[in-house]
Amino acid sequence: MMLERVLPYAKTLLSSVITEGDTAVDATAGNGHDTLFLAQLVGDSGAVYAFDIQQQAVDATIGRLKEHGLEKRAHVILDGHEHLSKYVHGEVAGAIFNLGYLPGGNHDIITKGETTISAIQQLLSKLKIGGIIVLVIYHGHEGGKEEKDAVIEYVSHLPQKYVHVLRYEFINQKNDPPFLIALEKMNRVGGSD
Ligand SMILES: C[S@@+](CC[C@H](N)C(=O)[O-])C[C@H]1O[C@@H](n2cnc3c(N)ncnc32)[C@H](O)[C@@H]1O
Repeated sequence: MMLERVLPYAKTLLSSVITEGDTAVDATAGNGHDTLFLAQLVGDSGAVYAFDIQQQAVDATIGRLKEHGLEKRAHVILDGHEHLSKYVHGEVAGAIFNLGYLPGGNHDIITKGETTISAIQQLLSKLKIGGIIVLVIYHGHEGGKEEKDAVIEYVSHLPQKYVHVLRYEFINQKNDPPFLIALEKMNRVGGSD
């Protein structure tokens, strides 16, 4: 048996909950790899909302979708994920965040704890029961530890009746490898067990 690596495991989780016709969110579009993956899962009748604060990332993501003829399945939005409620209406089946900086881009433009947590809160209220939010947490860069600590503090206090929180991590690797947090919505706030 081989232990699944962090990035493939993120895809395994998303593909277990997102199907044709669903709405999915890529909260950090970057170079568009995850947006493309989500667009493949939701099919022609579904929709992906992808966010990034950098024009370079929006252009790269649209370009990648076009290469695959899937640009009609995604709304690629030049805005922070902390504003996602302005754009995303209805239920979301799955969402992904890749925290950190844009590979090949400006390393000073990074995701931040406060805005990441705001986006997670908004997504939790839109998530289907059984839906999943995946966070791939890169934390070796400047500012990464602060964001990691803030996110861990927030998710570890979510009520278990409402959300199941998984941490998936290789604990003997050097150089701050990324790890994964997955949030599975079990119930609505105030719902029964
Ligand atoms: C690690 S990269 C994402 C990589 C991407 N998933 C890919 O497939 O290439 C993180 C991205 O988050 C973006 N970002 C930073 N703050 C953001 C925010 N508040 N809302 C949305 N995106 C943000 C950065 O511009 C950067 O492109």
